[in-house]
Amino acid sequence: MRIKQLFNLEGKVAVVTGASKGIGEAMARGLAEFGAKVVVSSRKQEAVDQVAEEFVQDGLDAIGIECHVAKEDHRKNLINKTIEHYGRLDILINNAGTNPYFGPIENMPMEAYQKTMDINLNAPMDLSRLAFPHMKKNGSGSVIHISSIEGIHASAGFAAYNLSKAGLVMLAQNQAAEWGKDNVRVNVICPGLVKTKLSRMLWEGDARTASINKTVPLGRMAVPDEMAGLAVFLASDASSYMTGSVLVNDGGILHAPVMT
Ligand SMILES: NC(=O)c1ccc[n+]([C@@H]2O[C@H](COP(=O)([O-])OP(=O)(O)OC[C@H]3O[C@@H](n4cnc5c(N)ncnc54)[C@H](OP(=O)(O)O)[C@@H]3O)[C@@H](O)[C@H]2O)c1
Repeated sequence: MRIKQLFNLEGKVAVVTGASKGIGEAMARGLAEFGAKVVVSSRKQEAVDQVAEEFVQDGLDAIGIECHVAKEDHRKNLINKTIEHYGRLDILINNAGTNPYFGPIENMPMEAYQKTMDINLNAPMDLSRLAFPHMKKNGSGSVIHISSIEGIHASAGFAAYNLSKAGLVMLAQNQAAEWGKDNVRVNVICPGLVKTKLSRMLWEGDARTASINKTVPLGRMAVPDEMAGLAVFLASDASSYMTGSVLVNDGGILHAPVMT
C-alpha cells in the first residue's frame, strides 16, 4: 500500500473556513474521512457545532470554532484555539467567500468592493501567515485557497469577485515561492458552477438550470462533494511535489461557448 498511504491524513490537523455548508463542509468531511482532525469554522458557532457533531457521530474527529474571516481577532482566535485544542496545524483551507454585488463596475458601491476583498482575499492572506509558523515548525504544511474559474477568466458583472479570486492565484504563487524552502505548499482550486446557496442566483429556476445543462460539457453543474477529492489530494502527501498550482474543477465549462 505504498501509494494509497500517501493519501492518509491520520495525525494531521486541518482548519476549513466557511465549512458549515456547501463546498467547505464537503471538503472538511473529505479530510476527516481520510483521517485528519478537522476544525469546522464559519460565522455561526451553532452551525459549525452541528456539522462537527455530525462528523463525530460518523466516527470522525472534529470540533467547531466560530470565525468571521473578515475580523482580525476572529482569525487569530481560530488559529490559537486550534493549537490549544489539537496542538498542531498542518492543513488550512481558505474557503469562506462572498459575492455581495452583481452589476457594472461603474455602479459598484465601494463598500461591497471592500467587503469582497476583505473576505475573499485579505482574510486568506492573513490566515495563511498566521498558520505558517505552525506548519514551518512541523516541517510541512498545505494551504489551499478556494478561488473560482471566475478568478482566471473575465465575466461581466462580477468585477470585485473575479478580482478577489484572481488575487488568490497570485497570493498562492508568491507564498509557494517564499515557503517552498520550509516545505509549506500552497495551491489553488478553481471550481466551476457548484450547486450551493452562494451560487443560487446563477442556477435557480428551470430556464437557468436548462441553460447550464446545455452549456457545461459534462451536462450539469457540480455538487459540493465533487470538490472534496481535490482538497484531500492537495492536503495529502499524494501532492507532495505540487506547490503554486492552480487546479480547475469545472465540468469543462471554460472550454465551452458562452452560456445561452
Ligand atoms: N458555488 C459555486 O458555484 C462556486 C464556484 C466557484 C467558487 N466557489 C467558492 O467556493 C467557496 C464556498 O462557496 P459555497 O458555494 O460552498 O458557498 P455556501 O454554500 O454559501 O457556503 C459558504 C460558507 O461560508 C460561510 N461564510 C460566509 N461568509 C463568511 C465569513 N465572512 N466568514 C466565515 N465564514 C463565512 C458560510 O457559513 P455561515 O453562514 O455559517 O458563516 C458557509 O459555511 C467560496 O469561496 C466561493 O467563492 C463557489
